[in-house]
Amino acid sequence: MAAVVEVVARRRRYRMGLMLVFLGLFMGNALAVDRSNFKTCDESSFCKRQRSLRPGLSPYRALLDSLQLGPDGLTVQLVHEVTKVVLVLELQGLQKNMTRFRLDELQPLHPRYRVSDVLVADPAPARLSVSGRDDNSVELTVAEGPYKIILTAKPFRLDLLEGRSLLLSVNARGLLEFEHQRHRRVPQGARDPAEVDGAQPEAAAGDGDKPEEPTEREEPGAWEETFKTHSDSKPYGPTSVGLDFSLPGMEHVYGIPEHADSLRLKVTEGGEPYRLYNLDVFQYELDNPMALYGSVPVLLAHSPHRDLGIFWLNAAETWVDISSNTAGKTLFGKMLDYLQGSGETPQTDVRWMSESGIIDVFLLLGPSVFDVFRQYTSLTGTQALPPLFSLGYHQSRWNYRDEADVLQVDQGFDDHNFPCDVIWLDIEHADGKRYFTWDPSRFPQPHSMLQHLASKRRKLVAIVDPHIKVDSGYRVHEELRNQGLYVKTRDGSDYEGWCWPGSAGYPDFINPATRAWWASMFSFDNYEGSAPNLFIWNDMNEPSVFNGPEVTMLKDAQHYGGWEHRDVHNIYGFYVHMATAEGLIQRSGGVERPFVLSRAFFAGSQRFGAVWTGDNTAEWDHLKISIPMCLSMGLVGLSFCGADVGGFFKNPDPELLVRWYQMGAFQPFFRAHAHLDTVRREPWLLPAQHQEVIREALGQRYSLLPYWYTLFYRAHIEGVPVMRPLWVQYPQDVTTFSIDDQFLLGDALLVHPVSDAGAHGVQVYLPGSGEVWYNIQSYQKHHGPQTLYLPVTLSSIPVFQRGGTVVPRWMRVRRSSDCMKDDPITLFVALSPQGMAQGELFLDDGHSFNYQTRQEFLLRRFSFSQNTLVSSSADLRGHFETPVWIERVVIMGAEKPATVVLQVPGSPESHLSFQHNTETSTLVVRKPGVSVASDWSIQLR
Ligand code: GLC
Repeated sequence: MAAVVEVVARRRRYRMGLMLVFLGLFMGNALAVDRSNFKTCDESSFCKRQRSLRPGLSPYRALLDSLQLGPDGLTVQLVHEVTKVVLVLELQGLQKNMTRFRLDELQPLHPRYRVSDVLVADPAPARLSVSGRDDNSVELTVAEGPYKIILTAKPFRLDLLEGRSLLLSVNARGLLEFEHQRHRRVPQGARDPAEVDGAQPEAAAGDGDKPEEPTEREEPGAWEETFKTHSDSKPYGPTSVGLDFSLPGMEHVYGIPEHADSLRLKVTEGGEPYRLYNLDVFQYELDNPMALYGSVPVLLAHSPHRDLGIFWLNAAETWVDISSNTAGKTLFGKMLDYLQGSGETPQTDVRWMSESGIIDVFLLLGPSVFDVFRQYTSLTGTQALPPLFSLGYHQSRWNYRDEADVLQVDQGFDDHNFPCDVIWLDIEHADGKRYFTWDPSRFPQPHSMLQHLASKRRKLVAIVDPHIKVDSGYRVHEELRNQGLYVKTRDGSDYEGWCWPGSAGYPDFINPATRAWWASMFSFDNYEGSAPNLFIWNDMNEPSVFNGPEVTMLKDAQHYGGWEHRDVHNIYGFYVHMATAEGLIQRSGGVERPFVLSRAFFAGSQRFGAVWTGDNTAEWDHLKISIPMCLSMGLVGLSFCGADVGGFFKNPDPELLVRWYQMGAFQPFFRAHAHLDTVRREPWLLPAQHQEVIREALGQRYSLLPYWYTLFYRAHIEGVPVMRPLWVQYPQDVTTFSIDDQFLLGDALLVHPVSDAGAHGVQVYLPGSGEVWYNIQSYQKHHGPQTLYLPVTLSSIPVFQRGGTVVPRWMRVRRSSDCMKDDPITLFVALSPQGMAQGELFLDDGHSFNYQTRQEFLLRRFSFSQNTLVSSSADLRGHFETPVWIERVVIMGAEKPATVVLQVPGSPESHLSFQHNTETSTLVVRKPGVSVASDWSIQLR
């Protein structure tokens, strides 16, 4: 009997075993992130502590007697009624409709980290004056600003009002939580590490008396924390900061990238907050608030009447909770509330929680979203103007094997008639992953390879990661070590982690000397084998540390200035990107514009180049998510965004790959890239019919380069995003507020890429009452607002040009953008129902800073009204010698004229030949033949 039982049990175990193997295989195929590698809020002790504080009366009181008003703003002390610890609030009105406040401890045991290098300048203050006062509050008026600030003393809160309407409140829910530094209650004989560091003992809370020992609970994780096998020593104890913001009238919030989630942020109550902590997440999953490679702590709130922004300038691990009083209510429910007058005003509440640093907040008060863009970029800078080539197509994979492979790929583009600007080299190109070197057997002649590409007017991008192989024969490592430029462990030795080259050191990019040294490494002398057509890719700069907690650096690692990695984690990658871009500028003596792609980013990274969405997967949902991911980045300044075309992990089938090219052709950074284990997928390896469709998509990209370049110029000058959610242009159209499957490029083109397998049609939302939209392929006209069902084939990319715009194009697609830059321009004029249109074109040499330093550029304006298209200068400062001329004008929505006349000042009128298509109302005017730099007009008579 016992034997029978044993046999049955064994069989069961065997079956279970098989099931597990199957499950394992299945899971392996599904490519799911291993969530256990990354903390939840509950596993991050400060997030848990912060979140355990519930809304209620705030224990903080402003000491109005301490209020001091100066030309730069006011300061006032806040006291915690229980602990008696005093904070200092600095409040400033700023010009351009912004307010800033900072909160720090009056007498911290150890200074707190304040983020530097993110703001491009000290923001100009607008004078504050006291315009009212009672026992418990002070009313402040901001000079030249339409708003007032009310500071309530007990419980402390700030309210910003415009007229009688409340725009935003701070600490209205009483969630201000500032974990002041304290002495550890240490066992007798042991010394407090904060004292060891030379900090002064805690001093008086405003009155010079020694405060009472804090009475707060000291919860687990406050003084040390372990996660998996990693322990964080937390020598300074709990230092987190948290605060709530209430946004009355707001139901839609956006921003705080990077998350693989919907564009519109979701309510997080009952779930995980959105996390901002730059992490290398292997096989990331979609539709969740987990942290990814980059962080921009900027949130935008939108309503049909108003836009606001909150910029939380803190570089430590940060979590953001979002709640709303209308969450879960249906539209019908909300309408019923409204009709019965029973509904509350909709309100969104946002709560920020960071592990260390100070509270430093900019309130960007709009009123329009374009104002918010300008406000934010006036603080952190605008998108760098990319070199023209970088807006072309980039061909990458991990890895192109050797020089012969690179040259074959280059030749493949020519042989099969696909344009391409750049070929990329991943980590295997370097000698044993020693960046700044070349594998001697596979890349023995990098210089001639680069020269060959230059002769084709193409570029090369090589990867340079910030983990440096620990190897005494490697010059880069030796210099960093000898000059003391590596990040250190808590005990002062060089920090070492595990990454691609094995054991690696991490240059301390927080140190300006490290950045200067790093920048100098890109000189043509220092970077042997490099050439002017070599550009750089910075990867793994979160930083990624394979054997570190959450695949990153220990939080108690030490940086320049005595800061812990905890304080600066989210800004590390920003500094890598900054130093690399600076290096490329320096190598050309300050003449040439750099191109640097970075995986990690922070507020302000837009000044240094491009970013991409990291290691995605060849799946349809990953194709779809690239839209909201790049839109979110664009909203917070990072316009130069793209996703790996084709998907990084796994092999896309031809249909998915084709659809991805069509998507990528209309996203700002357009690069195909793939994992080492994937099958080769250069476009000519696909079946012929798929190749042709990819050729068309690439053709569309290249022909629109003059438009892309002009949009980037606008982003650079004004801070407006290149790729835009529809609601940005149609702020009152509620239907647009949650759209994730289509977007605008500038204000002229609406793109609805096909992102479903086997699609036969798409539902395109064309916004704008009184607006018309022209299909750019068929010229068919559609009226907005409507949801249009558009049948599609494999070659369709549904793109519409808005009536009222002019889009410049190059009509001959050549080998690379550099071969096209002197080509003639065709203007596509789409008329509004009123018969008007406007557009512009920016041109310069495409690669240098001469547009800035020598005003060598053209900014042309084209406007159509009263049957006349006029070309004029939109910026008289610019001059640029160019052979570019206007070869054709296509006017959509035009009636047939009797004659078309060209007028150029100083020349006699001439008649132009034209063709009119009555069915589509499209007029094609041939060969005006005028220089793009000159003033002219074309009249339809
Ligand atoms: C990282 C990058 C990926 C690159 C790989 C090897 O996973 O995100 O793009 O190919 O490292 O360098």
